Amino acid sequence: MPRLCPLAAWKVLSGTLALQLALDLRGPWAGEPGFREDYFEQVLDHFNFERFGNKTFRQRFLVSEKFWKRGEGPIFFYTGNEGDVWSFANNSGFILELAAQEAALVVFAEHRYYGKSLPFGALSTQRGNTELLTVEQALADFAVLLQALRVSLGVQDAPTIAFGGSYGGMLSAYMRMKYPHLVAGALAASAPIVAVAGLGDTYQFFRDVTADFEGQSPKCAQGVRDAFRQIKDLFLQKDYNTVSKVFGTCQMLSGQDLTQLFGFARNAFTVLAMMDYPYPTDFLGPLPANPVKAGCDRLLRENQGMEGLRALVGLVYNASGTKPCYNIYQQYQSCADPTGCGSGPDSEAWDYQACTEINLTFASNNVTDMFPELAFTEAMRQQYCLDTWGVWPRRDWLRTSFWGADLKAASNIIFSNGNLDPWAGGGIRSNRSASVIAVTIEGGAHHLDLRGSNPADPSSVVEARKLEATLIHEWVKAARWEQRPGP
Ligand SMILES: *[C@@H]1O[C@H](CO)[C@@H](O)[C@H](O)[C@H]1NC(C)=O
Ligand SMILES: *[C@@H]1O[C@H](CO)[C@@H](O)[C@H](O)[C@H]1NC(C)=O
Ligand SMILES: *[C@@H]1O[C@H](CO)[C@@H](O)[C@H](O)[C@H]1NC(C)=O
Ligand SMILES: *[C@@H]1O[C@H](CO)[C@@H](O)[C@H](O)[C@H]1NC(C)=O
Ligand SMILES: *[C@@H]1O[C@H](CO)[C@@H](O)[C@H](O)[C@H]1NC(C)=O
Ligand SMILES: *[C@@H]1O[C@H](CO)[C@@H](O)[C@H](O)[C@H]1NC(C)=O
Repeated sequence: MPRLCPLAAWKVLSGTLALQLALDLRGPWAGEPGFREDYFEQVLDHFNFERFGNKTFRQRFLVSEKFWKRGEGPIFFYTGNEGDVWSFANNSGFILELAAQEAALVVFAEHRYYGKSLPFGALSTQRGNTELLTVEQALADFAVLLQALRVSLGVQDAPTIAFGGSYGGMLSAYMRMKYPHLVAGALAASAPIVAVAGLGDTYQFFRDVTADFEGQSPKCAQGVRDAFRQIKDLFLQKDYNTVSKVFGTCQMLSGQDLTQLFGFARNAFTVLAMMDYPYPTDFLGPLPANPVKAGCDRLLRENQGMEGLRALVGLVYNASGTKPCYNIYQQYQSCADPTGCGSGPDSEAWDYQACTEINLTFASNNVTDMFPELAFTEAMRQQYCLDTWGVWPRRDWLRTSFWGADLKAASNIIFSNGNLDPWAGGGIRSNRSASVIAVTIEGGAHHLDLRGSNPADPSSVVEARKLEATLIHEWVKAARWEQRPGP
C-alpha cells in the first residue's frame, strides 16, 4: 500500500526527476516563468474509506517560484481543466504578469484523469475505471495539494487565489465556494456555471456562435447557411458524390453520414468563435489573428457555397495546409458535448464528465442560428451515456452540489466573460454582491483576460485585467489582515 501521508511522498518525488525536468521545460516565451514540473502522491478516493483504502495516484503540477517573495507573496493556484496542464500554463500569461506584481508563488495543478494525472494509467478512461472522475474529487485534489504545498514550503498562512478559465474557471469559483478557508478569492474566467447546471437555453450556444459571424459579416453568415442548404439538398437528391468531391471528404459519403458531416463542419465554427483573439494563437490548435474574420474571408473568396465552407473549416481541420481531404469521423468525434470533446484519452474523460455532472445539452435549429438542425435532447444524452459509459445523468445534482446560479452566499469571485465568447451566455453576467463581480470584456473571446498582455488587446481587456488585479490585491491584503496576531 502506498503511504498515506502525501506530503512526505511529495518531498521524495520533488528530487532529481523534477530538477532535471525543470531545466528543459522552460519555454522561449515571454516572461520565462521557469515552471518546475512535479508530481504529488494524491489520495485516490477522498470520499470513501473502504473501496480504495489509502491508495494514491501521481497528480502532476507545475510550480514557479520566480516571482515569489516567501513570507510575503500570496499563492496563485490554477485549478486545471480537461487537458494537459501545460497547455493552460502556456496560455495564461496574465497570471504570471500579476504574480510578478504581487510577488506570488504560481502553481498550475493538473486535473485528475487528464494529461499525465491518470489514476489507472493508460486504462483510466476504460469503462469501469472512471468512477473517481468527478468535480468533487478534483476539487478535493486541489485542496489537499494546496495544503501539502503550503506545509512543505513553510507558508501555511499564505493567502491563496484560485484562477481558472472555462471549466477551470468553474473549478476556481467552486474552490472558493467549497473551500473558502483555503482560497481567499477566485478569478473565474469564461466559466459557464449556469449552463452546465442545466439552467441555460439549449439554443444559446450556437446562436451566439452565429452572432459572431453575423457581426463579422451578414454576407458570411448567409454564405454559411447557403452552403449547409446546398449540402442538404444534394443529400436529398442522393448526390453524395458531388458533396464528397467538392467538400473534400476522404471517404465517399452516403446517406447516414449527413449528421456527422454537419457536426464536423459546425464544430469548426465553435472553435473559431471561442478562439477569436486579435493575434495569432496556439491553444486548441494554431490559428491566425481574428480567425472569425479569416474564416469569413476564406468563405467569401471561394464564392461561398460548399467550396467556401470547405475553405473556412480548413482553418481548423487543415491548419498545416497538408491535409488532402477531411476525415470527418476521425477529425471530429461526436460525444456528449456538442461543442466538441477533442480526441484522445482527454476527450474520453471529458465525454464521461459530460455524461455525469456537466450538462451540455446544446443544439442548433437553423432558425435562431445558421447551422443545420442538430438536436441534442436530454433523452438523446441519456441514451448515449448509457450506451457509452453505462451511466445515467443525474438531474439537478450540480445545482445542489454547486449552487446553480444562486450565489447569494458566495464572496470574492470575479466572473469575467467576453461578449464574443459563445460560453458567456451560460455564465454569471451580473454583479451578485459587493464581492461577486461580473466583468464583461467587449471584443473578448474565450477567457482572453487570462492570456498575457498583447499590443493587439482591445482596451476593454486591459481595463478588465486592471480591475481584476485591484480586487485580487485587496483580497490578499484582507486575508493577511485577518491573519494578524491577536492582541
Ligand atoms: C495503508 O493501509 C494499510 C492497510 O490497508 C496499512 O497497513 C498502511 O499502514 C496504510 N498506510 C499508511 C501510510 O497509512
Ligand atoms: C508549452 O510551452 C512549451 C514551451 O514553449 C512547449 O515546449 C510545450 O510543448 C507547450 N505545451 C503545450 C501542451 O502547449
Ligand atoms: C440539462 O439541461 C437541460 C436544459 O438545458 C434540462 O432540460 C435537462 O433536464 C438537464 N438535465 C439534467 C439531467 O439535469
Ligand atoms: C488543405 O490545404 C491545402 C493547401 O492550401 C489544399 O491544397 C488542400 O486542398 C486542403 N485540404 C482540404 C481538405 O481542403
Ligand atoms: C434552413 O432553413 C431554410 C429556411 O427554412 C431552409 O430553406 C434550409 O433548407 C434549411 N437548411 C438546412 C441545412 O436544413
Ligand atoms: C460589477 O461591479 C464592478 C465593480 O464594482 C463594475 O466595474 C462592473 O461594471 C459591474 N458589472 C456589471 C455587469 O454591472
